[in-house]
Amino acid sequence: MDVSNSSDGRHGDDEVLVGVDDGSSAFKVVYGDSNGNEVKLLVSAVVSGGALETDSAGRSVGVLFTDGEAFTVGPPVASVAAFNTANDGFHTSQAHRLLLANALSQVGVPVSKMAVGLGLPVGVAFDAAVKAQKTGNCAKDVYAGYEPRVLLERPFRLFHYAQSVGAYLSLLINPAGAENPALTGLSVAVVDIGSYTTDTVVVRNPGAGQSLILVKSLTQSAPVGVSIAVDELQAILVARFREAHKALTYERVAGALVTRTLKLFGKEHDVSSEVVAALETAFTRIKPSLTATIESAASADMVVPVGGGAVLFSEQLARLFPQNLAVHDDPLFANALGYYRFLRFAEPALATSRG
Ligand SMILES: Nc1ncnc2c1ncn2[C@@H]1O[C@H](COP(=O)(O)OP(=O)(O)OP(=O)(O)O)[C@@H](O)[C@H]1O
Ligand SMILES: [Mg+2]
Repeated sequence: MDVSNSSDGRHGDDEVLVGVDDGSSAFKVVYGDSNGNEVKLLVSAVVSGGALETDSAGRSVGVLFTDGEAFTVGPPVASVAAFNTANDGFHTSQAHRLLLANALSQVGVPVSKMAVGLGLPVGVAFDAAVKAQKTGNCAKDVYAGYEPRVLLERPFRLFHYAQSVGAYLSLLINPAGAENPALTGLSVAVVDIGSYTTDTVVVRNPGAGQSLILVKSLTQSAPVGVSIAVDELQAILVARFREAHKALTYERVAGALVTRTLKLFGKEHDVSSEVVAALETAFTRIKPSLTATIESAASADMVVPVGGGAVLFSEQLARLFPQNLAVHDDPLFANALGYYRFLRFAEPALATSRG
């Protein structure tokens, strides 16, 4: 596994390991509690420009500053459009820096004690320049509050991992750190269908003590994902609820895609047939990026879909891979679990203090 920015030494026995699948629609965070059990935290990736909300005492809430500018992190404010995080520059953006600060502040331990494993799309995850740029972006100062502003702590060190590979690691390493013997000799295709990117990797495990093989020719990041289904659904719903088109924001439609219901002006509507239609259309656009890599890999013994798209497109995926589909028991947290378990049990840069 590729690692960058690992400084010498360790913070000490109290170093806190945190796996963060830093997605464009949500940050999935995994860390250990005092008993060593895994704790999962889902933090939505919504950030808007400006200081937007005040509490009853007139204090601004949810406000973070970076580069001297104010931002509000948290649920979108109806009248202000949140930043679009679904773009190639997300991992090195102001929005990412603020969302990371926001997510880590919710873990409940000092951020300065954290070793944090983060993800990148597989297409750039092994690119040293991209990792260095992301590390630099994560080092930017972030302040919280209004006046007086408080400089937030930075993580002690960062590790960069690849999306999808993280999910594979969650299958390979169990919560107690033991390696799953059932994967020995198998080629496993992991498909991470996120909001904006779909990452496919094929990983082969030759056996105990040997390095994992990432089949490079079968590794790709495609700029397709659940957001296509949201756009489709938005168009369908605008046609059905013409009078309410202004209320059909991206965030609201994304919610309807998951719940299959839509609340408009206090009234709840069943939109399941619209959701099914949107999912089918969207999947025809996502499918080529899956089949291009996986069908040509006759050697993929298992196909493991992860990410929110694995949940939403479960029927379409089962149809596409009738022979070798393997369902992950926590597709949404798969990457974050893998980053965390790798940090805890296998990260070479942390080996000295593992004992
Ligand atoms: N349990 C769930 N059931 C159904 N849909 C879900 C579930 N969890 C998340 N989703 C939806 O799936 C989409 C993708 O979620 P995911 O967290 O995988 O994206 P992401 O990692 O933030 O995006 P990317 O990897 O492209 O940066 C989201 O739009 C979300 O609304
Ligand atoms: Mg993702």
